[in-house]
Parts: sequence; C-alpha cells; structure tokens
Amino acid sequence: MSNISVIGAGYVGLSTAACFAELGHNITLIEIDPEKLTALKNGLMPISEPGLNEMWQRNKQEDRINVTNNHMDGLLGAEFAFIAVGTPAASNGKPDLKWVRLAAKNIAEAASGPMVIVIKSTVPIGTAEIIDRIVSYNDRNGHSLPVVSNPEFLREGAAIYDFMHPSRVVIGSSSQEAIDVVSKLYKPLDSPIITCDNRTAEMSKYACNAFLATRISFMNEIALLCDEYSVDIVKVAKIMGLDPRFGSGYLNAGLGWGGSCLPKDLKGLIHMAKSRGFPARLLRAVQQINQQQVYIVIRKLHWLLGNLEGKTIGILGLAFKPNSDDVREARSLLIISLLENEGCRIKAYDPDPTAMQNAGKLKIDVTYCANAYEVAKDSDAIVLVTEWEEFKELDMPAMASMMNQPIIVDGRNLYDPDEMIQAGFLYEGIGRCSQRTQETRIGIVQ
Ligand code: UDX
Repeated sequence: MSNISVIGAGYVGLSTAACFAELGHNITLIEIDPEKLTALKNGLMPISEPGLNEMWQRNKQEDRINVTNNHMDGLLGAEFAFIAVGTPAASNGKPDLKWVRLAAKNIAEAASGPMVIVIKSTVPIGTAEIIDRIVSYNDRNGHSLPVVSNPEFLREGAAIYDFMHPSRVVIGSSSQEAIDVVSKLYKPLDSPIITCDNRTAEMSKYACNAFLATRISFMNEIALLCDEYSVDIVKVAKIMGLDPRFGSGYLNAGLGWGGSCLPKDLKGLIHMAKSRGFPARLLRAVQQINQQQVYIVIRKLHWLLGNLEGKTIGILGLAFKPNSDDVREARSLLIISLLENEGCRIKAYDPDPTAMQNAGKLKIDVTYCANAYEVAKDSDAIVLVTEWEEFKELDMPAMASMMNQPIIVDGRNLYDPDEMIQAGFLYEGIGRCSQRTQETRIGIVQ
C-alpha cells in the first residue's frame, strides 16, 4: 500500500482521497481553506456527494485518512502527491493556474524523497511542462519528482461511482517509470488504462468535456426545431441513441449545461484556440446555443401568460443537476435573474437543503419554500429546472389545483406531456410538440 497526499478538498480531491483510502492506501489530504479544514477535522463533509461521507468516515476510523493544512507535514513520506486544486476561469476564459503552481512549489519544497506528482486538476495543454520547471527550480535536494497528467472524468453526484468504475483511466507522462507506478494504483479498478504523453492526457480532458457540451447544444438546437414542427425531441433522441455509432448519453435536450466543469472547460479551450490564432467557430457556437437556451423559458412564459410583471413563478430545482448541492453556473440562477428583470415574484425549492443555502448566499430575490407544493401554491406558472427524482413522484393534479394558473414549463423534459395535460396542466417541454399546448391554450391565456 502507498502513502498518497492529495492537495485540495474540492469534489475531485475529496473523492480521490476517499477512494484511494478505500483501496487500502494511506491518505493525507492537504487543504488550506480554514472553513473546509475545520469541517473535515470535526468529522463533517463540506460537500454532499452520494456515498462520499460514509466512505470517508469509515476510512478515517480505520486510520487511513489524515487532514492537515501544513504541506511539510502532509507531504512527509509521500510516494505520490495528487494535485486536485481549482483552476477557475478568468473573465477571458483563461484557466487560473495560481493554485496549481503553488501546489507544485510546495511539493518540491516539502519533498523528503522521490515522489510522483500527479495532476488531477483540469489544466491547459502544456501545464505539466510548467509544473516540471517549477518543481526543478524549487527542489533543492535533487529528488526524482516526475510529473504525471491523470485527468479526472468524474461527474458530480456520481463521483464515487465514477472513480471506482471508470470507463478509462488516462495516465500521461514522459517518465515510463512514473506511468508504471501510477498505473499500479488504478489496477484494482479493472478498467482500460490509456498511457500517453502529458499533452495528450491534458487535451483529452478538454476534448471530452467540449464534446459532451457539443452533444447537448446540438440536441438543444434540434429541440427548438422540434417545437416549431411539432415533433417530440425525446422520441428523436431515443431513435438517435440506439445507433451504436452515437451511443445514448448526453442527448437530453433541456435548459442547457451548467456546473463547475463544462462551462469552464469550454471557455478554457476557446481561450487556448484563440491564443494560437484559431477562431474555434464550432466551440463558440456550442457556447452561444447554451447561453441562449434559458431564454426559451421566458419566451414560453410570455406565450402562456402574456406580460410577466407581477406574476408569481415557481422554480423547481436550483442545483445545476440532480443529486448535487452545486449551484455554480446553474441554469436556475440565470432563469431567476431573467424573471427578476421581467418583474416576477419568484418562489423556489430544491430537494437538497445545501443547494438552497448555496443559492441563498447569492443576491437573488427569491422566497425559498419547504417543498414543491409550497412552490405551486398560488403560482402563475412553475418552471422545472432540475430533474430531481423527487419531482417525478409529485401528486401533479394536486399541484395543478393549488396554482393560480396550472402552467408548467418542464425545462428538463421530465414529465410525459399527455399525463401532465391529464393532470390539469398547460404543459410546455423543450422540443415536445408545443402544438399540443397551442391547441389547449386557447381561452386560458389572457
Ligand atoms: C462533467 C463531465 O461529465 C465529467 O466527465 C467531468 O469530469 C466534469 O464535467 P458534471 O459537471 O458533474 O460532469 O456534470 P454532467 O453530469 O456531465 O452534466 C453537465 C451538465 O449538462 C448539467 O447541467 C446537465 O444538466 C447537463 N446535461 C447533461 C444536459 O443538459 N443533457 C444531457 O443529456 C446531459
């Protein structure tokens, strides 16, 4: 078993630390943020991620996890140092490598023997070479400190599952010895291991996230056409997904993609392209489609309600996706701000209390509700923004009967349009035979 230090207690760092501990390694997590550190020291998990807390507590009890803010202590005797710090995008999209550089410097200064440095954070192409130079400059003892690029493909809300059941593990380095020892760490996971150079590994992460974003924006564009031509995008997606050349993932049309990765990584890739003189036309179109997708909600509410001033709109779901407390780049926030501009009163509920707290920290004028029924009560319309399982189980006739006007914009195509109409709703999905409501709409809309 190995001694592994993980720098950074974000989604990637915490999941990596917990899962390697679960595989039997000794983990030291290094985190400098006092709030996160105190939480972890007091046995509290700073993020909600299915299965993470249980795995963490179990391994902590078995003494395989330590937490510190001191790099010297935290890296003492480490054979591997995983860098899992944030790389937030600047306003021009350029990923900020401040924390990655600092981690590299700290590792080099603290190294008490040979150690493999593994970059988990998503970093621009060429970063491993920068890290290598920082490390060489700061390592006064001449230890062997090879740099490995090992991008993480985990999804929030499924981080533990994705770590333990990866579709592939990518290990890039110029040192074959380093590739071999890092490969050994992942061997128990029984997944394909792709070895390559650092740049290929770095690019593969950006290419994957950009491709996922492209698929979703593509489907969202087709969905707009489906609305126009009274075609159901859900059936179209099913037909497409059965073609083995495509696969069925990431074909759900909706309000677009958000979260901490897809928006940031697409911006980062566009920035990289621009800095080399490439226009990145496709990537920019993918981004534009996503930016515009939320306006569809306002457009649909206008069709259904006319002027929105003074109307009460209920929002179901604040997190950027289900099983997550994360509201970073969440579509809900954009929609809320558009509705605020229209002069609406806004009520909202998310099944994850932390997601509501996270939204509550932002300056938005929202009445937070205890459940979906409270949102529906006296609302003029509800907008489903996050497809939580809980929302599938709602008593929809009861919801409709509580509203001022039984209107729902299903931003994630969670519901069956016919069932919703039967429940008494005026239903608008995204690309789901809008014609249906055009017919039933007559007489109800002002
Ligand atoms: C993503 C990548 O999936 C993961 O491999 C990478 O490591 C980090 O970025 P994550 O940000 O957790 O993971 O979210 P993901 O589940 O991929 O969803 C991203 C966004 O796309 C969400 O806003 C989701 O609602 C949206 N989405 C996803 C769609 O609109 N339609 C789809 O079909 C799938």
